[in-house]
Amino acid sequence: MSHNLLAGKKGIIFGALNEKSIAWKVAQKAVQEGATIVLTNSPTALRMGELEILAKECNAEIIPADVTNMDDLKILFEKSMNILGGKVDFVLHSIGMSLNVRKNIPYVDANYDNLHKGLDISAMSLHRVLQTAWKLDAINEWGSVLALSYIAAQRVFPDYNDMADAKALLESVTRSFGYHYGKHRKVRVNTISQSPTYTKAGTGVKGFDGFYNFADKMSPLGNASADQCADYCISMFSDLTKMVTMQNLFHDGGFSFTGVSQEVLDDN
Ligand SMILES: NC(=O)c1ccc[n+]([C@@H]2O[C@H](COP(=O)([O-])OP(=O)(O)OC[C@H]3O[C@@H](n4cnc5c(N)ncnc54)[C@H](O)[C@@H]3O)[C@@H](O)[C@H]2O)c1
Repeated sequence: MSHNLLAGKKGIIFGALNEKSIAWKVAQKAVQEGATIVLTNSPTALRMGELEILAKECNAEIIPADVTNMDDLKILFEKSMNILGGKVDFVLHSIGMSLNVRKNIPYVDANYDNLHKGLDISAMSLHRVLQTAWKLDAINEWGSVLALSYIAAQRVFPDYNDMADAKALLESVTRSFGYHYGKHRKVRVNTISQSPTYTKAGTGVKGFDGFYNFADKMSPLGNASADQCADYCISMFSDLTKMVTMQNLFHDGGFSFTGVSQEVLDDN
């Protein structure tokens, strides 16, 4: 059901890979809520071809951009403003990748070239996106930029490996850039810290099923789905949350503040 929460708003959505992606659901809901959007992903991801299905459904153009490439990002924002007919109101950064995780390299054995690459793609990229938007003055006042995080940024989840460090940096960039962009143009920047979710990035983490089931049993409301995460993103892009910025917002059914649950105790 649409509430027209984003009527007349324009946005850029990074990170829809396939229909399981959180960004995929956000794109669908943003358009249902009245927004016009541009979709973007890395050239490698676009080769899979699935994004075209979403683009058709959302009547959106696709602009390729590797989020670690400043030239790509500049072209992305310039073209988006052209296509959408002006500055944007919201940006979703839904991107994560660790080469150490992908190659099954344990945290303590980190390969530093991999670590560099992972931090750049998963965290520094938010800084790159914000700096590009700032220089082009590409975001309207009260615009909303959101990135997706995970609680391993703040508590230890050993198998989350160096993605934990990437998420800690992502949350820090959110606060730091959020301060400057708030002062400069009243643009707000937040992260949503989502429950474990069955997507390509999620299931790439070792022991994901264990993570998922444990979190589900710990959370009084159970795990939050990708669909529910998209609903939260829409509310954060809307004018109903105008004074929220520089926050890490848990969207996890209560997991982050639960010490232990009866279900977890009963398992032992
Ligand atoms: N799935 C979970 O359990 C979970 C939980 C909390 C947070 N998150 C976060 O949600 C976000 C979205 O992930 P998802 O779960 O929807 O998985 P996903 O695999 O569908 O999305 C990850 C996206 O990152 C993109 N990407 C990777 N390298 C890129 C690059 N160089 N340039 C541009 N894009 C690039 C991929 O193409 C893909 O579209 C990530 O930040 C992830 O860490 C996921």
